[in-house]
Amino acid sequence: MEKVTLHDKTFRLLYSHDELCDAVKMCADKISADYKDKEPLFISVLNGSFMFTAELMKRIDVPKGEVCFIKVSSYQDMESTGTVSHLIGLNRTIVGRDIVIVEDMVDSGCSMYNLVNKFKEDGARSIRIATMFIKPNALKFPITVNYVGKELENDFVVGFGLDYNEYGRQLSDLYVLDEN
Ligand code: IMP
Ligand code: MG
Repeated sequence: MEKVTLHDKTFRLLYSHDELCDAVKMCADKISADYKDKEPLFISVLNGSFMFTAELMKRIDVPKGEVCFIKVSSYQDMESTGTVSHLIGLNRTIVGRDIVIVEDMVDSGCSMYNLVNKFKEDGARSIRIATMFIKPNALKFPITVNYVGKELENDFVVGFGLDYNEYGRQLSDLYVLDEN
């Protein structure tokens, strides 16, 4: 499909599934080399990263790697001023573990900044970030992103796990908002 319409917006094809999987393979090879003799815990951040996680794990060769899934929900705490992030689904200890966070997209870096700090506080031994996409010009938080699939411009994209108001996650290719 060259174009796709979701809700009120039209998107055009940016990268095919094959192109995305080539980028995933390059990440996978680096991770395999870095973690070959380690016992990493890959923590996939739902919902957006489900497709990247599946494609990445199929291509990774780390015999003692584990995979788990979490969800981060943000809500306004009535008794404090800031936004509180709540972590759902992490049902095991990460003390002393080598963590690889598997994320769909790093935009401002806010989500990853908060998650890395939480895992540090909880006693992880090391924490790295693998993201399918990053918008380097949008980054506002001091984070180190160790493995990147594709760098993007500051345009809104859908597909390969990413949604526009919950539509488009299941598209195997990546689409960008078509301004025309
Ligand atoms: P950050 O906390 O600002 O880095 O935001 C990251 C999150 O925003 C990602 O995990 C996505 O869920 C969402 N996001 C950022 N850019 C896009 C986009 O272009 N399309 C869909 N979701 C996006
Ligand atoms: Mg996300």
